[in-house]
Amino acid sequence: MIRLKTKEDIEKLKRGGKILSAVLDEVEKVIKPGITTQSLTDLAEKIIIEAGGRPSFKGYKAAWADGVYPAALCVSINEEVVHGIPAPNRVIKEGDIVGIDCGLEYEGRYTDMARTIIVGKVKPGLKKLVSVTQESLMKGIKQVKPGNKISDISRAIEEHVKKHEFSVVRQLVGHGVGFSAHEDPQIPNFVDRSLPDVVLKAGMVIAIEPMVNVGGAEVDSLEDGWTIVTHDSSISAHFEHTVAVTEDGYEIITK
Ligand code: MF3
Ligand code: CO
Repeated sequence: MIRLKTKEDIEKLKRGGKILSAVLDEVEKVIKPGITTQSLTDLAEKIIIEAGGRPSFKGYKAAWADGVYPAALCVSINEEVVHGIPAPNRVIKEGDIVGIDCGLEYEGRYTDMARTIIVGKVKPGLKKLVSVTQESLMKGIKQVKPGNKISDISRAIEEHVKKHEFSVVRQLVGHGVGFSAHEDPQIPNFVDRSLPDVVLKAGMVIAIEPMVNVGGAEVDSLEDGWTIVTHDSSISAHFEHTVAVTEDGYEIITK
């Protein structure tokens, strides 16, 4: 069931989105060779709590994993696609690309955001991977308006990624968000004819989150129950915004 948000809900979400975006800005600033992924999640959690929010990923019970997610932030490096668990012995190094993904509950409303950071000098092609992934998110967002369908978002993302000969991950998708961390509908990053193709309506709030691989689209889940990696160990990038459908188009909540 898709639950529409009121103007008041959107105002709350925008206040949260502003905080969440600032959290990722601060985490991005400290990403340097030598820093541990644990210190990144500690920083994110500290800022969220000081701002009066709650890190919505920490303690999250997902349908797909036993146990709960243990941290405020997901940190997914190189061939890790999403949901990497921070650890005190995991050190970022020159040449890594680092996905940071965070969720915030603020005034009872949920926002979700991710970006991929390039650390120093990276292998040829990786800057392109990161920029194409970010561009594909923006192309998806531009399709958001009442009357368009979810498949219009999916198609815009998929076309851009294919044009640059990368692959879109198919086993994980974007989602509704706002009253909880994950809601209906699903927002695939490819045209999926097996899903109902919902028509967008003002008041819907969705998290659009393309995950893009240099190699094949296949992904696997690690033993830790959370970390998703590419099957062929190729490098992967991820960007995400929470977006509201407005009367005349869209508004990015996590600006
Ligand atoms: N942004 C992630 C997603 O929508 C949320 C991670 S789930 C958590 O898939 F368990 F890590 F919180
Ligand atoms: Co998400």
